[in-house]
Amino acid sequence: MPTTIVLRHITKIFETPSEAEQPASESAISNIVNALRIGSDASARTPGHLPEELGRQRAVDDVSLTVYPGETLGILGPSGCGKTTLLRIVAGLLRPTRGEVLYDGQPLEDIPPAERGIGMVFQNYALYPHLPSVDNIGFFLKLRKREQEIPQRVREISRLMRIDLKPLLSRKPPTLSGGEQQRVAIARCLARDPRVFLFDEPFSNLDAKLRTDTRVELKRLLQRYRITTIYVTHDQTEAIALADRIAIMREGRLVQIGTFEQLYNAPVNAFVAGFFGKPAMNLFPGFAHHGTWEGATFSYGPIRSDLNEDTPLILGVRPEHFVLDNTGNITAIVELIEPIYGERIQLVYTRIGSHRAILRLPLRHHVQIGEQLRLSIATDQVHLFDQESGKRLA
Ligand SMILES: Nc1ncnc2c1ncn2[C@@H]1O[C@H](COP(=O)(O)OP(=O)(O)OP(=O)(O)O)[C@@H](O)[C@H]1O
Ligand SMILES: [Mg+2]
Repeated sequence: MPTTIVLRHITKIFETPSEAEQPASESAISNIVNALRIGSDASARTPGHLPEELGRQRAVDDVSLTVYPGETLGILGPSGCGKTTLLRIVAGLLRPTRGEVLYDGQPLEDIPPAERGIGMVFQNYALYPHLPSVDNIGFFLKLRKREQEIPQRVREISRLMRIDLKPLLSRKPPTLSGGEQQRVAIARCLARDPRVFLFDEPFSNLDAKLRTDTRVELKRLLQRYRITTIYVTHDQTEAIALADRIAIMREGRLVQIGTFEQLYNAPVNAFVAGFFGKPAMNLFPGFAHHGTWEGATFSYGPIRSDLNEDTPLILGVRPEHFVLDNTGNITAIVELIEPIYGERIQLVYTRIGSHRAILRLPLRHHVQIGEQLRLSIATDQVHLFDQESGKRLA
């Protein structure tokens, strides 16, 4: 039975900048991780963008969630929102200021590091530069004195990760391409037979094609092994492709967790609405007026009738919910057109009054830069948010 991971009120406050330099905990895993950093570039030591001087920093703020057995949970959020910090806490590499992590009901702290069974892949792959791939992959088995299992396991996993070519396995990481290193890192992680997988932007150094290819391989692998997985990324395409559910973080807090559909159809607030979706939802400020939403250049209604007159409201419209309509009350001026031939649509970047708006229109409509489009909104396809709190109203 795959592992259940429960996070209860996890909070992490960094008190001093020097904490970044200290070993996060005394665990064997952190020693291994530190060892893995030897020889890799300096950015491996701390998250690349960390400034030198930091005061008290609430990196993770009261995050509670459950990762179900065998589930892949994607964690998505802008840079600096606490994704890596949260993942390191789940890995036991960093102690939370408050809250606890449970693996199958057992506090992580009570599980001896050697029994935690965590397979972690970092953004910077952290392979041993002096060992050939084959020994990198078998490293943890060797460490655990299970050497007799190595040849079979390495063969099986290398085939799966498509690195089963002799010359590749015998080479050392510095002579491998980024994509090859990535595969070796994932293979090594798999070879440990982990109970949970933790990935922190593992593909961020790969080019678009390799990213897609490796993503497909990883997805296949996750489906085959059904290992409980947390996958951190700021690339939502990746999160959508790999994850069963997605958790959206902002400024250390968990904003919403759910399936792609739940997040897409019912974002809990304007932040999720404006962040999730490619392109994201268009947001227009306005206010409640006689049972309609009234904006600077157009109005929409009827909306729910229980809102006080003049309540500031944000109207959210997805790009695909604008329709070309000669009788429509919205005028948009085309600024840029981005055809997506494979889907037979075009993204049309426009201006509605002083607001930018992106439309997703069928490719067969010929639009031109500078053209004025008449639009309406597909019935019942709007989202309303309270302007002050940002919270979803309907
Ligand atoms: N060791 C540390 N000491 C002090 N502050 C830290 C430390 N590590 C992270 N922080 C701060 O905590 C916040 C969250 O950082 P974290 O690395 O978790 O973000 P992230 O979501 O992974 O960002 P990115 O997408 O850029 O990797 C940031 O403001 C960061 O500066
Ligand atoms: Mg990070």
